[in-house]
Amino acid sequence: MLGARARGGWQALRRCASLPRAQRAVRLRVREALGAREPAGEVKVQGWVRSVRSQKEVLFLHINDGSSLESLQVVADPSLENRDLTFGSAVEVQGKLVKSPHRMQNMELKAETIRVVGPCDTWSFPLKMKERHALEYVRQFPHLRCRNNTLGSLLRIRSEATAAIHSFFQDNGYVHIHTPIITSNDCEGAGELFQIERSNEAREPVEKTHFFDVPAFLTVSGQLHLEVMAGFTELMTNLQAVVGKVWAGEVWRRLTRAFTHVFTFGPTFRAENSQSRRHLSEFYMVEAELSFTESLQDIMQVMEDLFKTTTHTVLSKCPHDVELFHKYIAPGRKDRLEQMLKNKFVIISYNEAVEILKQASQTFSFKPEWGCDLQTEHEKYLVKHCGEVPVFVINYPYNLKPFYMRDNEDGPQHTVAAVDLLVSGIGELCGGSLREERLPFLESRLQRLGLTDAYQWYLDLRKFGSVPHGGFGMGFERYLQCILGVDNIKDVIPFPRFSHSCLL
Ligand code: 4AD
Ligand code: MG
Repeated sequence: MLGARARGGWQALRRCASLPRAQRAVRLRVREALGAREPAGEVKVQGWVRSVRSQKEVLFLHINDGSSLESLQVVADPSLENRDLTFGSAVEVQGKLVKSPHRMQNMELKAETIRVVGPCDTWSFPLKMKERHALEYVRQFPHLRCRNNTLGSLLRIRSEATAAIHSFFQDNGYVHIHTPIITSNDCEGAGELFQIERSNEAREPVEKTHFFDVPAFLTVSGQLHLEVMAGFTELMTNLQAVVGKVWAGEVWRRLTRAFTHVFTFGPTFRAENSQSRRHLSEFYMVEAELSFTESLQDIMQVMEDLFKTTTHTVLSKCPHDVELFHKYIAPGRKDRLEQMLKNKFVIISYNEAVEILKQASQTFSFKPEWGCDLQTEHEKYLVKHCGEVPVFVINYPYNLKPFYMRDNEDGPQHTVAAVDLLVSGIGELCGGSLREERLPFLESRLQRLGLTDAYQWYLDLRKFGSVPHGGFGMGFERYLQCILGVDNIKDVIPFPRFSHSCLL
């Protein structure tokens, strides 16, 4: 069957049949041409040359325009060859779409004219014909690397995964919120903030004040703004008084289908001085916030469903692009991914995790102790210990986690209702928690941290119709690393930013 896009091109072909010959040619994307059911005259394909092979009787080209991994074969008379027709050049080919005699390809283009739109100097062009360049090599050329097959596949997968994530939330009744990029708070309290100010040129010479009158930063998380939106309304407060907290959520959801469940998916910034394979200074985070939730189980269910649904969609929409990664970049990842999709994710507590690590035969650079944060080496070991199935670790020490997490009130080994999802090869993929919805608990924690004034507005949310709620954030680039088996996070984002590097 032909996809909708290919059918569109096909209908255009029919419409143009009555035009004079010169104007008749219909532009087809490479993907449409490859998927066409019948031969067609007068078509035009534009793209970049991936290979040129000149024989005595015939000239072969392969053209790619980014619409598919596969390139379209062009067959031409050798007289159409010219010296600008090289690997990397941009061309427009006009001719007839005919059935290909090759088993591997459905259609090919029999060229009548070939126009070189933009020549390419192959000697200085850093990509070479038919070479499978290493990811580290093409990373040096962020302005050219999208012409490489691997990056082309990655960008198509990124685009489908983004759409799949939006659909997952929309289909489940979540409202998408544009949380701000410029903010005056540090949600995670880790001080990993980029502060923003006007550049020196834009400043008045004597100006001493901040542009916004207060220090402003690039956001480290949209969570606090999502919490503002997650259902705190006067109507809800009244509903709670009548039917109780948990039922109010159900009634509200049925009446409005809005604002008890919200999500955001946008750029996030962290000034971590790290060059690691899983940290960026600018990355994309998917965040969800659920009201009327009293159990971490609800949050974990959404994380697991999000991971599995998105991955199934990506696998069905981009099978060839994903296969390229599983075949050439990460052999073995395909089976591991199937394991992840097939099995129920494992749940262990932080206490259990520390015990498993203490009994491990492996020696770690950081000795595992109760109260210490789990390091990547610990996280990877825990996933291995659980058969490479993703693992939720719940209930972390109170002192390790940010102020907004809900106190479990559980004695000397004091914990909060936090959850991290750990996955094979990466470690932490998602971080979430129940939020402290009880005013006295939140007040005393903020007071101890000296943050009461800064978070008056956040305390207000607990004064006016507070409900039990929670949520999580998933690093989008780490998600792509996980499903594709890409070792370095810099290879799953078009323009990686990290300490000491901001190319372009
Ligand atoms: O665990 P984090 O810090 O959680 C939060 O920011 C919460 N406020 C989210 C929420 O509950 N709404 O970050 C969430 C995820 C991490 O698990 C990780 O996958 C990713 O964001 N992440 C990074 N990805 C790339 N580079 C970095 N520097 C990252 N820091 C976090
Ligand atoms: Mg975290």
